[in-house]
Amino acid sequence: MTQSRTRISKAVIPAAGLGTRFLPATKATPKEMLPVVDKPAIQYVVEEAVTAGLSDVLMITGRNKRPLEDHFDRNYELEEALTRKGDETRLARVQESSDLATMHYVRQGDPKGLGHAVLCAAPHVGDQPFAVLLGDDLIDARDPLLARMVDIQERHGGSVIALMEVDPAQVHLYGCAAVKPTVDDDVVQVTGLVEKPDPADAPSNYAVIGRYVLDPAIFGVLRETEPGRGGEIQLTDALQALASSPDLGGPVHGVVFKGRRYDTGDRGDYLRAIVRLACEREDLGPEFRDWLRSYVTEEM
Ligand code: UTP
Repeated sequence: MTQSRTRISKAVIPAAGLGTRFLPATKATPKEMLPVVDKPAIQYVVEEAVTAGLSDVLMITGRNKRPLEDHFDRNYELEEALTRKGDETRLARVQESSDLATMHYVRQGDPKGLGHAVLCAAPHVGDQPFAVLLGDDLIDARDPLLARMVDIQERHGGSVIALMEVDPAQVHLYGCAAVKPTVDDDVVQVTGLVEKPDPADAPSNYAVIGRYVLDPAIFGVLRETEPGRGGEIQLTDALQALASSPDLGGPVHGVVFKGRRYDTGDRGDYLRAIVRLACEREDLGPEFRDWLRSYVTEEM
């Protein structure tokens, strides 16, 4: 009898980091709530999970993160005011985020690292594979990545990470993977991982970006993972343990992403994301592009 597998349905979004690169904006506001044009960055991430078929979303939050919960909840006062005014367009925009997914929240307490944040999801996730989407990594909706990762996980089992080729001089900013090719051009087998290596020690220029589909065996490994770089429990260290001992929880594969991605936790990339997405918007784009063109010509 063939064993039927449950399709992956749970997404975990760690959003408990301190966002120190964006201070003072993030002193009392989560960085995930910073707007990218007119939507908070986190809404793009939840939309991406839902588009890939993952409508059960667990957000890992912490102190100062209440606005995240409020954003995905109803706001009756605002809805009533807009209904009274007959402003259906804005009413629909307000309701969009609360109708999007089934949202759950757990607090991390102390932000002891991404690995620790993922471990906080263990009771909710149980023993099925699940996806992790970093709240400050934005993948352009026109370049779907997560659905491909879910397919690869369902085909090979184990865990799947997202990789992007970067300039070797930039590799020290990322987790970095040692890889072997597979029959699929966009898929590699991951044989090792190292967090933020010196360029001279980097096994490749394949950088780990913020999307993962993980075997639940990761939880057992994370419980045993000692704090690593920066005194934090690193997800990369736990994935390295899985990659080097497939008996623990199956192989680790990487899907190589060549699409558009913005690290909205980084100020420069955040600005680039806003400019690019605003230029491409049908409602704002034409006027904004004209302004941008003359600004660049006249001011720079
Ligand atoms: P970052 O490395 O971007 O850290 O975390 P940060 O604290 O959010 O931002 P900076 O560097 O101080 O500006 C990557 C992701 O992991 C989450 C963050 O919220 C972000 O989505 N994270 C990190 C947690 O949820 N908990 C942690 O303890 C650490």
